[in-house]
Amino acid sequence: METTAYDDCWLRYEPVQSSARRSTYRTLCSHVFTSTAGPEFGVIRDELHTGLTGLLGREPHLWMHPPRSTDGFLAVGRRERMAVVRAGVDKHEIEALHAEGFIIRSVEWEGTDCLVITGATNAGMVYGTFHLLRLLATGEPIDELDIVEEPKNDTRTINHWDNPFRRSVERGYAGSSIFDWAQLPALRDRYRVYARMLAAVGINGIVLNNVNTQTPSRPGENPAIADMAGWQLLDSSQLPKVAALASVFRRYGIKIYLSVNFAAPVLMGELDTADPLADEVVQWWSETFDAVYDHVPDFGGVLVKADSEGQPGPHDYNRTHAAGANLLGRALAPHGGRVFWRAFVYGSHDDRAVQAYNTFAGLNGAFHENVTLQIKNGPIDFQPREPVSTLFGALSETNIACELQITQEYTGQGVHLCYLVPQWKEIFETDTHANGERTSVAELLAHGDQNGVAGVGNIGADPNWTGHYLAQANCYGFGRLVWNPDLEIESITEEWITQTFSDDPAVVETVASILHDSWPAVLDYMTGHLGLLHMMYNGNDVVENHYDPAPGEWPAYHGADDDGIGVDRTDYAEQYPEPLAEQYLSVDDCPTELLLFFHHLPWEYEYEGTTIIQRLYDNCTAGVETVRSMRDRWASLADDIDRKRHRHVAERLDEQLVEAKQWRDTLIAFFDEYADIPAQTQHSDESEP
Ligand code: GCU
Repeated sequence: METTAYDDCWLRYEPVQSSARRSTYRTLCSHVFTSTAGPEFGVIRDELHTGLTGLLGREPHLWMHPPRSTDGFLAVGRRERMAVVRAGVDKHEIEALHAEGFIIRSVEWEGTDCLVITGATNAGMVYGTFHLLRLLATGEPIDELDIVEEPKNDTRTINHWDNPFRRSVERGYAGSSIFDWAQLPALRDRYRVYARMLAAVGINGIVLNNVNTQTPSRPGENPAIADMAGWQLLDSSQLPKVAALASVFRRYGIKIYLSVNFAAPVLMGELDTADPLADEVVQWWSETFDAVYDHVPDFGGVLVKADSEGQPGPHDYNRTHAAGANLLGRALAPHGGRVFWRAFVYGSHDDRAVQAYNTFAGLNGAFHENVTLQIKNGPIDFQPREPVSTLFGALSETNIACELQITQEYTGQGVHLCYLVPQWKEIFETDTHANGERTSVAELLAHGDQNGVAGVGNIGADPNWTGHYLAQANCYGFGRLVWNPDLEIESITEEWITQTFSDDPAVVETVASILHDSWPAVLDYMTGHLGLLHMMYNGNDVVENHYDPAPGEWPAYHGADDDGIGVDRTDYAEQYPEPLAEQYLSVDDCPTELLLFFHHLPWEYEYEGTTIIQRLYDNCTAGVETVRSMRDRWASLADDIDRKRHRHVAERLDEQLVEAKQWRDTLIAFFDEYADIPAQTQHSDESEP
């Protein structure tokens, strides 16, 4: 067993400071009566023991029957098994509850004040337990509770882009993979801790390996290892390892999924075709999944990147994506498994934005009922900001999931602070006008038990899990927002800060202000904040850089030329239903932050009292000023946050400031080169040592 050298993240369970609060909490939670019916109750009891010991400063008494002679107690269990739950929760409430929902309620039972946590399933009660602990950790009153909570999205997954045998993580900025395939099925305590962290924010699935299940080896890599690829996880030698991980995560309500390679029947050396309509291929997948389910009876299913960036797919056999996805869907259906089929395809059009819609909109209704189309939030690729994909409003008869990127591939990677919860909130709130009605992305996703949200994870083996300490907030915020997209950004932020650092109002306010300023700052200095994107370097490495400023490398993405800047995306805009198409196509009505995504405009085009070029200069400059102020605000917390964490973040912010200036200067020089209009901007660099 490894020693626990890693950070507790949002499960620190620091002692409650207010003595009044602590005393109420102690009255209701020092004695805990839990059911033992199922392995999840082991999780619940462990978590309550750890959490309450930390929060209340003494160990709780855990009972398997209602405690007597106490002033109050907490009860966790099913209604049919516990009289105390029946005293406060009606049968119909449980029947109406979502399978993963829970009720937390104050109940008087036999003259004693009790608090009950109940649900329709054990998983629901795991979520309920974490919810109650969060209330305590954030200092909320618990004496008159009546909470009924249900997830708004049915599938809430983290996609690990981990390359299993190399232990590397594609687009990972927090060290190597936490999953050690060489040692599995031997388990590490870290898996359990990770499962706790995810369950605490409502995640119910993880995909263990990279969507790129075939990746070329790199110079210097041991070929014996590098040649092993993610598709090999389907091999019978690897399934006990998958089963071992499932045994840990299952207790926390988290299902295991694998990314699979469409050509696996060929790659695994057994067939000479992967044609989805060939009988032997149908049989191969069916037998392969039978073997998976022998090892993991509740296996969630598969994620597939097909016909995309070199990965094989049904187009190799002149078949449609629907034929490919349905092949896997049918093979998984007898086991209750699911297919997440990615819509990330591009390449055959000058503007890559148009392709996903062109490929998939016509297949609406053609997918098997256990197939979900997993669509990146925007039409390009996890840029600092994009409009939402046109596919969201175009698939009324298809299960859909939105894929977001928690890891910061294009938003400063492991160095720049970029709090993404506001970006995701904006995506969820966007009105798609699907079917001619007001329908937000969140509403489309919440509709149907095969829909959901996936996030490309930002977790790695670094002691603090996320590389940049404050990037923990993105992992936390993803789970919370996906559980309920109606949550306010501010409340998610404050919860995270309180559980992570302190409930001191000055700390909460300062850290929140830094987090909330961070995405706009990145948009300012990395894009000029008028809808430009992909100003970053690609390079020739197997995994492109996507970090350093290099706006000259891909002019097609932002359309800079001697006349102006931006891309005329009429073809793409016309894929939206009205009134969205009209709005985006009109320079006057197009949202400012997407203006140059949709329009190519002259450098000196007059816009909101200034010119486009001057606005770009101003925004690039303002972004740096914001980072400087974020750094200074963080510095002011030196006495309020422990030295180790304070210093870690301070160093990152110093580095971010240096790089933000490079971004500003590179972009301004690039714009000037085309426009030949020198920047008239003032910045505070002179004051820097
Ligand atoms: C981006 C990213 C790749 C990734 C791909 C995908 O292009 O740079 O690393 O494989 O997206 O989402 O499939």
